[in-house]
Amino acid sequence: MEPREVLAFDQIDLSDPTFWTRTWEEREGAFRLLRREHPLAFFEEPPLPGKLTQILPKGPGYRAVTRHAHITEISRHPEIYRSGQGATSILDLPEEMLEYFGSMISTDNPRHARLRRIVSAAFNPRMIRRIEDHIELVAGAVIDRVAEQGGCDFVVDVAARLPLAIICEMMGIGPADYDAVFTASNVILSQGDPEYVTAGTDPLVAFMEAGQQLTMLMSELVEQRRVNPTDDVTSALITTNIDGEALTASEVASFFILLVVAGNETTRNAISHGLLALTQHPEQRALWQADPTAIAATGVDEIVRWGSPVIWMRRTVAERTVLGDEELHPGEKLVLYYNSANRDEEAFDDPYRFDVRRSPNPHVGFGAAGPHFCLGAHLARQEIKVMFRQLFERLPDIAASGEPDRLRSSFINGIKHLECTFTPAPSAR
Ligand code: HEM
Repeated sequence: MEPREVLAFDQIDLSDPTFWTRTWEEREGAFRLLRREHPLAFFEEPPLPGKLTQILPKGPGYRAVTRHAHITEISRHPEIYRSGQGATSILDLPEEMLEYFGSMISTDNPRHARLRRIVSAAFNPRMIRRIEDHIELVAGAVIDRVAEQGGCDFVVDVAARLPLAIICEMMGIGPADYDAVFTASNVILSQGDPEYVTAGTDPLVAFMEAGQQLTMLMSELVEQRRVNPTDDVTSALITTNIDGEALTASEVASFFILLVVAGNETTRNAISHGLLALTQHPEQRALWQADPTAIAATGVDEIVRWGSPVIWMRRTVAERTVLGDEELHPGEKLVLYYNSANRDEEAFDDPYRFDVRRSPNPHVGFGAAGPHFCLGAHLARQEIKVMFRQLFERLPDIAASGEPDRLRSSFINGIKHLECTFTPAPSAR
């Protein structure tokens, strides 16, 4: 697929929701033009969702960072480019929202370092090994559910099920609550997509309620684990570790929301983009299927580069500095477009080619190197690898059979539904 530059620079408005409903080729064309000619272009703030228009003033706008080199530079210097005023929102988050959504992704040092230390200790090698075994089991069970059908909605029936079960399992949430977690996370990341926020409901109210629901679920679990700790991540987070550190109950809740949102939808979308790309590029798929272990080592990262499930993160300039040819001032907002960096001709040979053997592949799908680099990158890579290995073993001719139904969002490159077909196979259930 090649980008199409149908929009002139003054017709590009990344804050206009209709920009994000354009075809992939047209959007890529716009980003290619920005990268080449206006790599730090200024845009007015996007429209505020729902009731926020009544309570918040319009923000000052932002610069769209579209070059790979600039994004890596920014991510390496958290002292200049801060996350604290909101990394996942162009709008500065009001206090009431920070209660649920003010997790470590939107903090700076020293708070970020403390949170990341505690959380990383809970993601210890023993936990990761246990989870790796569990990924094999869950992937097998997910395929068992659909194997005899000969087709299904790949996103809902396959891609979504693995990451959801893994995160819930890590935290100690039982299968009875999976559906509630799934629904709440869809609402949080939906940007008001009508499939997830029903007509007549204020998107902001739905967003807050979903946050509240996940917080309540987690608070109950925290209470249980305080009395009876187990070997799950929740217990590790609230039990004082060797350095005498632990998270408070509300820190655990907002971390859980971050995990559900950051780890669930992103991995689901990566797996869905993977099936789509492998269907559209049969020669690449044949390479992967011929040698799944060798190709997965590079193919998984190519899926993340290609799909760029997280479109952007935000930073705020803390001190006067220079980036490229531009002088930046304290308070300026920067939006780091990972999708654009991942197609930057300066960083990748033939960036519009899907190449499962691409190496080197310095993609920034998990963020660029720096203190906020994705905590779950190893886990996500493992989930994608295992899923495709098992799919190719058990349903070797599985392929996307319809057009993807895309999420209407400027933040998450999401696929809501994707029909697939395959020759029915026996279920091991
Ligand atoms: C393909 C799947 C995934 C993608 C594309 C992805 C992408 C990202 C990106 C772009 C960031 C921000 C980096 C920055 O600001 O510099 C991030 C941060 C984060 N991710 Fe992921 N992620 C994925 C999977 C996961 C999983 C499975 C988990 C958890 C189990 C997870 C947990 C986190 C956390 C906790 C952070 C915040 C880290 C911090 O602020 O220190 N992610 N991820």
